[in-house]
Amino acid sequence: RISSPESLSAKFEGSFAYLTVRDRLPTILTKVIDTLHRNKDNFLKEYGEEGIQAEKRAISFLSKLRNELQTDKPVLALTDGVGDTEAWNEYLSRQQELMDNGELVSWFKSPWLYVECYMYRRIQEALYMNPPMHNFDVFNEGKTQSFFESQLAIKLLCTYLQELITNMENVTEIKLRENFLKLLQVSLWGNKCDLSISAGRDNSQKSSPIDSLPDLQSFILVDDSSMVWSTLVAPQGSGPLGMKHSTVDIILDNAGFELVTDLVLADFLVSAGLAKKIRFHGKSIPWFVSDVTKLDFDWTIRQTMAANHKCMSASGVQWKHFMKEGTWTYHDHPFWTQPHEFCDMEVDAEDLYRTLQTSDLILFKGDLNYRKLTGDRKWAHTVKFNQALRGFQPAPLCSLRTLKADVQVGLKPGQAEGLCSQDSNWMTNGRYAVIQLFSPHRE
Ligand code: F6P
Ligand code: MG
Repeated sequence: RISSPESLSAKFEGSFAYLTVRDRLPTILTKVIDTLHRNKDNFLKEYGEEGIQAEKRAISFLSKLRNELQTDKPVLALTDGVGDTEAWNEYLSRQQELMDNGELVSWFKSPWLYVECYMYRRIQEALYMNPPMHNFDVFNEGKTQSFFESQLAIKLLCTYLQELITNMENVTEIKLRENFLKLLQVSLWGNKCDLSISAGRDNSQKSSPIDSLPDLQSFILVDDSSMVWSTLVAPQGSGPLGMKHSTVDIILDNAGFELVTDLVLADFLVSAGLAKKIRFHGKSIPWFVSDVTKLDFDWTIRQTMAANHKCMSASGVQWKHFMKEGTWTYHDHPFWTQPHEFCDMEVDAEDLYRTLQTSDLILFKGDLNYRKLTGDRKWAHTVKFNQALRGFQPAPLCSLRTLKADVQVGLKPGQAEGLCSQDSNWMTNGRYAVIQLFSPHRE
């Protein structure tokens, strides 16, 4: 494998990774503990004394976890024995081998990507070890709240979608392309609304998602959207209208407004005949505060259907129908909630890699997916996206990401320097974004 730069890590004092491990992760753990406290009566009601005991044990497990993190203790092997425990413990051994001078893998010394993923898996361990809590989603309240707080934006977006669909019949290819690019950008900016960067604070969409697009255009640092369009209409070499058999995979990120933007985009792709099948990929456990699980996915469609708003409920009904007839499918491979860089997928999750190879276009939503695509490493900003992928090339793939971590590749010479002089936090404040494509046909 081509040699690659070092991983981002909290060992670099003052870095964003360092600040995250020092400040943001303990805050998130504290909120999780508070959530369990607040739900005490519900546990009592549902499971009686057993529920209370489980809640107490989980809280003490999580307080201990927070202490391990804050005092930079060694990372411990998982003990819950559920599902992917072995894969995690094997990964820990790999990390151990990478340590210098026999030092142990620990919160502030190891790769940030690894320890951050590990924290979410340990939160799950606290629940797995304490039935009847194993199905409790500690982030559920935040996710549902952020959906409700974005209601106005969701209604506007669904209205926009329904208008597009109604006028689809006589639409020209130029218009179709224009609409596609708009909805791609809406889905891109939807990624602003995650609850991990804000450590759980409200971060919902308040303004009109369509009207704000022109003002946001100059914040897109890499914009390969025209090539994404060509990729979508090219595979069968025919025109775009109603002739495609393409499968598009959407690797989802956050629930709330962002998920709605993804569903709207997916609806448009199918309704415009640009894709025959959409495969959504979500998380099998609660993850990075706001990421989509199957429950969130189903809940969002149900809520949209039940809305007291014509265009919103029409959208929800259509989405339910797509799921029922199998035009849309939902998948949650455990690999998405493991710490691996995506270049490991072909070996460590071969079945998933094979599935993605059958895709015509894979859309990777969000920051964490970008970190995993590029391995969360200290790449020079001008390194090609292709190189940072280190062989992860199952099919044409595109990252739709607002920048919330200090990794960014594929910029023009001088571009990063220019940004630095204008806005020193450009890589982490979520104001900038990329639509970055890798396509094997274009290399
Ligand atoms: O550090 C910001 C952060 O919490 C990262 O840990 C993570 O990459 C990101 O936010 C989550 O963002 P997204 O939901 O876009 O993946
Ligand atoms: Mg997320």
